[in-house]
Amino acid sequence: MAAGADAEVQTTYTIAHLPGDGVGPEVTGVARSCVDAVAARRGFTVDWRHCPLGAQHYLDTGEVLPDRELAALRDCDAVLLGAVGSPAVPPGVLERGLLLRLRAELDLYINLRPSKLRPGVPGAVAGHRLEDLDLVIVRENTEGLYAGAGGIVHRGSDFETATEESLNTVAGVRRCVEYAAGLAQRRSGRLTLVHKTNVLVHAGDLWHRVARAVAAEFEVALDYAHVDAACLYLVSDPARFDVIVTDNLFGDILSDLGAALTGGLGYAPSGNLNPAGTGPSIFEPVHGSAPDIAGRGLANPAGAVLSAGLMLDHLGQPAGAADLDAAVNAVLAAGPPASTGGWAEALLAYLAAGAALAGQSGGGA
Ligand code: NAD
Ligand code: IPM
Ligand code: MN
Repeated sequence: MAAGADAEVQTTYTIAHLPGDGVGPEVTGVARSCVDAVAARRGFTVDWRHCPLGAQHYLDTGEVLPDRELAALRDCDAVLLGAVGSPAVPPGVLERGLLLRLRAELDLYINLRPSKLRPGVPGAVAGHRLEDLDLVIVRENTEGLYAGAGGIVHRGSDFETATEESLNTVAGVRRCVEYAAGLAQRRSGRLTLVHKTNVLVHAGDLWHRVARAVAAEFEVALDYAHVDAACLYLVSDPARFDVIVTDNLFGDILSDLGAALTGGLGYAPSGNLNPAGTGPSIFEPVHGSAPDIAGRGLANPAGAVLSAGLMLDHLGQPAGAADLDAAVNAVLAAGPPASTGGWAEALLAYLAAGAALAGQSGGGA
C-alpha cells in the first residue's frame, strides 16, 4: 500500500500472480519480469504474491477457489493472471469455478479488450492500415449468458432439456455503457453498440434504450451494428469502429476476432476492471492455456506484457504502462522473435537500455 504520507502516487503495489495453466506461467513469467524492470526504472516496487490456483492445484486438492485464496486476492492491489483450463479437468470446472467466479466475486464488470494493429505485426487482412485498426472492445463482464442462470432437467432421458439464460439488468448494462461512453469521450467521441436486437428483442431492446440514453448524457455519437454484421465490418472495414460496447458473450467472440486481425491471440491484452478501484482488478491476456503449444517455449508473451501495461495504467503508473507498450513495439520493429525466451530477452534488453538512458538524462519520467 501507499508508502510515504506525502507521496502523490502509490510506490509499492501488492500484486497477486496467478499463473494458472498451460502457457499461463510461461507468458506471465515474462510479463512479471518486465514489470519488475519497469518498476526499477520508474521508482516503484512490487510485492508479488503467488497464487497457486489452477488445474494442478485442483487435481492435487479438489480446491477450485477456496475462501482463503479469494480473501488473499481481495487484499491485493491487482492480479496478473495467465490462463486457466486444462484437458485434464472437465470443461467449466476452472473456467466457471475460478475465472468467472473471480470476475463475479470481485465485481469486475468491465472487460477491456483493446485491438490494435502494430507496426511489424502481420495482420490477418492485407490492406488493413495501422490507423484503420485501433479499437477497444468494452465487454460487459458479469451478466448475460455468463451469469450462470439455467440448468438441465430430465437428465439422461429423451426429454433432457438444457437451458442457459441471458440476464441483463438496467443497472448492469448502464454501468458498462457509461464506462464505454467515458472512454469514447476520451478517444474519438464515437461509440458503437453491438448486439442482436433483431432476434434477441428483449435484451436487445434494454441494451439499445440504455445505450441511447447514456450516449446522449455523455454527448457521444452512438452507432449500432448487429453482431453478425459487426464480424463482417471488423474484417472488411474496421475503421468504422473505435469503442465497441457489447454483451458478455458477443464481447468474448468479437475479441478473438479482433485478436486475429491484429496478429493473433498472442498479442491481445485484457483487463477485468473494477473501475471504481474499490477492489483489485484482474489483468490477463485474451488467450487461454493453449495446451497445444504449452511447455514448448513457443507462446507469444506480448499479450501478457500488454495486459501488465493495462494493469500499470490502472494502478496510476501510466509511464510504466507506456514503457511496456514501447518495449513490445521496439521488439516488433526488430522482427517478432519466434520463441517465448527470445521475446523475454529482447523485451528485457530494451527495458534495461531504456533505464540506462533515463538514468543518464537524470530521470525516468
Ligand atoms: P487458446 O486461446 O488457449 O488457444 C487458441 C489457439 O491460439 C491455439 O492454437 C493456441 O496455440 C493459440 N495461442 C493461444 N495463446 C497463444 C500465445 N500466447 N502465443 C501463440 N499462440 C497462442 O484457446 P482454446 O484452445 O480454445 O482453449 C484452451 C483452454 O484455455 C481451454 O481450457 C479454455 O477453456 C481455456 N481458456 C482460458 C482462458 C482464460 O483463462 N482467460 C481464455 C480462453 C480459453
Ligand atoms: C476469455 C475466455 C473466458 C471467457 C473463458 C475461459 C471462461 O474465453 O477470457 O475470453 O469466455 O470469458
Ligand atoms: Mn475468450
